[in-house]
Amino acid sequence: MQPTQAPFPATRLRRTRQSPSVRALVAENALSASDLIWPIFVCAGEGAEEPVPSMPGVVRRSIDKVVEAAREAVALGIPAICLFPYTSSEDRTADCAEAWNPENLSNRATRAVKAAVPEISVMTDVALDPYSDTGHDGYLVDGKILNDETVDALVKQALSQAEAGVDIIGPSDMMDGRIGAIRTALESAGHRDVMLMSYAAKYASAFYGPFRDAIGATTALKGDKKTYQMNPANSDEALRLVQRDLSEGADMVMVKPGMPYLDICRRVKDCFGAPTFAYQVSGEYAMIMAAVQNGWLDRDRAMMESLMSFKRAGCDGVLTYFAPAAARLLRDADAGPAASR
Ligand code: PBG
Repeated sequence: MQPTQAPFPATRLRRTRQSPSVRALVAENALSASDLIWPIFVCAGEGAEEPVPSMPGVVRRSIDKVVEAAREAVALGIPAICLFPYTSSEDRTADCAEAWNPENLSNRATRAVKAAVPEISVMTDVALDPYSDTGHDGYLVDGKILNDETVDALVKQALSQAEAGVDIIGPSDMMDGRIGAIRTALESAGHRDVMLMSYAAKYASAFYGPFRDAIGATTALKGDKKTYQMNPANSDEALRLVQRDLSEGADMVMVKPGMPYLDICRRVKDCFGAPTFAYQVSGEYAMIMAAVQNGWLDRDRAMMESLMSFKRAGCDGVLTYFAPAAARLLRDADAGPAASR
């Protein structure tokens, strides 16, 4: 219901836009560093920072550099980082056993970060795509993704991440029943405080392309992910998925990608009131940065406007490759003004 307002000229909506101070006063939403989760790509080696060509400004980091990034995140007020391992083709096998190897890149990075920077929350990804020779998030047998066999593997992967000390587990695989299976396994193993952020409404999207480059899955991927990721045409189905995952024990839910799915963010928040996150994915980052590099967009303004859109759509936070840049800008802008500009 809209409040009644007097007709023009008694009501002039421009009055509350006349100066920075008034605009700040009436701002409905604010963005802060504490809304951001920073996705970080992890690679082997030491002292390594390899640029990801399709994501200007983003690098894959060896574990020592991930620890440095975690320190930087804390200094900037970013509460969480999310680790994604780059796996070479030799470590990709049909059984995906590297996924639950206690010594895999993701688990070693988690332990190193939690030992050096215990105050940061570490999130990890549960899905088989960094470890499969098909590039798929589940087991592909005779052209079909096997749901239940995949869930058994995901449970092993999640348990190994919990053992390594992760705070938030993010199942991004879209298999049915995985949240309940992982939650039950975590409880029986005594991992009562490990949180689950479900990639509940994850769409089969073209916007993941640069990410697949970043984790080395592009050449691996056979076919598409449409039998498990959602059809971009659907919206009610997203609500059923979120409801299902919350009922199985998810603590937080995610919509992915972000900007093309802001309507879903709003519906999810309004319907369930649960902690709701959006993932501004690699392709969204790449689009903005490509335009910036051409001189067509101003990076800072496009970045902040895109991040504010998630707050406006009802999200509690956003996973974004812009996290450190945005947090720096927020800090330098002397609190408020940049956030509400
Ligand atoms: C896969 C996964 C993907 C992303 C996060 N986890 C890609 C996919 O589903 O193919 C995409 C993130 C991004 O594009 O930034 N488990």
